[in-house]
Amino acid sequence: MKDINILSIETSCDETSIAIVKNGIEVVALTILSQMDTHANYGGVVPEIASRMHTENITMVLEETLNKAHMKVSDCDAIAVTYAPGLLGSLLVGVEFAKVLSYVYDLPLIKVNHLIGHIYANKIGDKMKYPALALIISGGHTELIKMTDDYEFTKLGETQDDAIGEAFDKVARVIGLKYPGGPNIEKLAKEGSNNYKLPKMANDDTYNFSYSGLKSSVINLVNKEKQKGNEINKADLACSFQTAAVEELTRKLEKALLETDIKNVIIAGGVSANKYLREEIRKLCEKYDAELQLPEFIYCTDNAAMIGAAAYPLYLNGDFTGLDLNASSTADIC
Ligand code: KG4
Ligand code: ZN
Repeated sequence: MKDINILSIETSCDETSIAIVKNGIEVVALTILSQMDTHANYGGVVPEIASRMHTENITMVLEETLNKAHMKVSDCDAIAVTYAPGLLGSLLVGVEFAKVLSYVYDLPLIKVNHLIGHIYANKIGDKMKYPALALIISGGHTELIKMTDDYEFTKLGETQDDAIGEAFDKVARVIGLKYPGGPNIEKLAKEGSNNYKLPKMANDDTYNFSYSGLKSSVINLVNKEKQKGNEINKADLACSFQTAAVEELTRKLEKALLETDIKNVIIAGGVSANKYLREEIRKLCEKYDAELQLPEFIYCTDNAAMIGAAAYPLYLNGDFTGLDLNASSTADIC
């Protein structure tokens, strides 16, 4: 069978990324231009700046990707783009750029859900097995999904308030760490111990998650200690928070492993780059004799390679979209 090369575009947040992915599993070339350093000056992503920077940089990112691959756009078989969910202005830059390429080069256009992209980051290298339990853990989402085949999803649970990455970012800010908070909490936590007693999350009988209580308890603790004139042990607090945040995930994943008897676990999304979290989930999978599928670090946070991987089954299915494609800030997996 002829190789299928998909030119894929991701601009949903603060990374301008373009990749060429062969047959949904092999990354021919990938470029990721992160705006992180710019947004760090403001303590978080500024949507207006993000979309302007995508506009300024996207043609350069395309050129670099084509050069790395020694290919032309016309060598590709389709254009794929993240259309949702994310920052609307940022998504629109990628969507409009993809439409222009599709029109000019007469290539089919494929729309990809960003969260499904995170799951398909695990397809790179052809590692994904079904049925699987997929934990999507990012800045905007915390979801537990049952996947029985390509694009066959059932949502088991999701966060009732904050996403796990959002909690990492907010707690980081409260203890004076720079954006992005997640990697900085992880780094600091290594120097500390789990000494702060943070309240356990309510143990309900669902697969849903909750992070606002944990986040608030850290904020309250910092404020109280400040009022008393006490020093906070930031490393201990980072470690205690990280431990509690990961425990909330493993608790619900354990329930799902027990109740569904599924033996494959996928973790996806920016927070899956956290090594402590990876290790805790690995131990849990070992206990239940389940296989853990982890994306390589580079494919954990936002990147276009995962979009190319997620677009491939849609390409095979002839699931193409028209030039009237619009971006959307919200979208569910199922
Ligand atoms: O998937 P992603 O790049 O963007 C979204 O789709 O949201 O995820 C970004 C989130 C941020 O909240 C960031 O703090 C978190 O992932 N993150 C981490 C780590 N690396 C990124 N959280 C904890 N530990 C990390 N090492
Ligand atoms: Zn993401």
